Amino acid sequence: MSTPRGEFTSRFGFLMAASGSAVGLGNIWGFPTNAASNGGAAFLFTYLILVFVLAYPALMAELIIGRHAKANAVTALQGLSRGTISRGMGTFVGFAGIITVSLILSFYTIVSGWMVAFLIDPLARIANLDSLADWLTTDTILRNALFVMLFMGLTIYVVSAGVKDGIEKWASRLMPSLVVILLLLILYVITLPGASDGMRAFLIPDFKQLIDPGLIINALGQAFFSLSLGAGTMLIYGSYVSKKENLPALGGMVALLDVGVAVMAGMLILPAMYVAQANGVAIYDESGGLIAGPGLILSVLPALFNSMGSAGLLVALAFFLLMTIASLTSSISMLEVPVAYAVENHSVGRRKAALIIGGIVAIICLTIVANFDDLFDLVVTVTTEYSQPLGGLFFCIFAGWIWNRNSLLQEIKQGFPEVEQSLFWKIWPFYVKFICPVAIAAVYIQLLS
Ligand code: PFF
Repeated sequence: MSTPRGEFTSRFGFLMAASGSAVGLGNIWGFPTNAASNGGAAFLFTYLILVFVLAYPALMAELIIGRHAKANAVTALQGLSRGTISRGMGTFVGFAGIITVSLILSFYTIVSGWMVAFLIDPLARIANLDSLADWLTTDTILRNALFVMLFMGLTIYVVSAGVKDGIEKWASRLMPSLVVILLLLILYVITLPGASDGMRAFLIPDFKQLIDPGLIINALGQAFFSLSLGAGTMLIYGSYVSKKENLPALGGMVALLDVGVAVMAGMLILPAMYVAQANGVAIYDESGGLIAGPGLILSVLPALFNSMGSAGLLVALAFFLLMTIASLTSSISMLEVPVAYAVENHSVGRRKAALIIGGIVAIICLTIVANFDDLFDLVVTVTTEYSQPLGGLFFCIFAGWIWNRNSLLQEIKQGFPEVEQSLFWKIWPFYVKFICPVAIAAVYIQLLS
């Protein structure tokens, strides 16, 4: 217990780390196709409302609990409790978060491994190593297993170095690069024939689709996944924020950055899909929907890059670098959750904890890789559709019902002394106590029925 805790050294460092956790595969391939298939700007509009009305309050609950406790999720929730029942609940929710985030990390690492393989592919083609390039882009157990280990190795490397020298340092380098690459790609792709149709599909609203309850469930799930909520990630990052910082403002910036990158990704992916269509690539599946998920990233876009000749190699390189960066800044935030617990509560050294826990998650990844058809979708569904919203619900219950309100206020006052006069304090406590739990529970019930 005696190891000194890490802390982000600057506001910028925290913003890069937390937005790095939030911005990931969910923004770049989840959000754009979800939007295009669910009413374009109408989805964007619903999404924005849900992010600020439901996800932002839940994000604040995690950040504030974390900063108050300056500890991992298990200790933090136990510390807020007032009796044996809530203490038991804290222990349970803390551990459930650790298990959820480890399982999310296991499927995320598999997909991230694909991104790294597709990043090396154009390099192999430039070096005339065509058979290596073909192997890299062919779905085999061996390739998937090797790239799982490579990507997990990178994640372990960053987390082992600690909060300041690992997470903050790498997020501060990688996130600005991500934004620059994304902007350059958008600028290039929108000049190509067909791009404007994609922009239209993304931005023209079809408000008829707003009455579909499926759309709201989809948008809420997307918002929770995208802001990395309900799994303890934002709690642990909050625990590394200095008491001098204004947390509501920082949380707002993280939400804005996340939404901003999702919207920018929409301006890249949809125009790219319609450019692909103009080049003869199929972008709709048999049921008439836009191809999403792995089919989009691993077949539609590579087919587009192939049709662009040698410029396509550069574009592919930039695109998969973007995906790899987005994945890594998210995966490190996930591994940090169990590692912080092991370091703080079991006095394990950080390096050893990262190695052992990363190793265990890698074994889970390999099990999924070997039984892909049975396990992959199952793990994705259970963690993202069930565990994450439930985790978010409990964090709101802890912040809104279990935690003593005065102590909560004192925590936010640090770094934001005038909070009592702010709009935040007029709205947020009510939201986190009533609106968020009821809304999440309603969506949950819809999902189960
Ligand atoms: N927010 C990440 C994304 O949009 O890809 C995914 C994620 C990260 C989910 C961390 C959960 C988590 F704890």
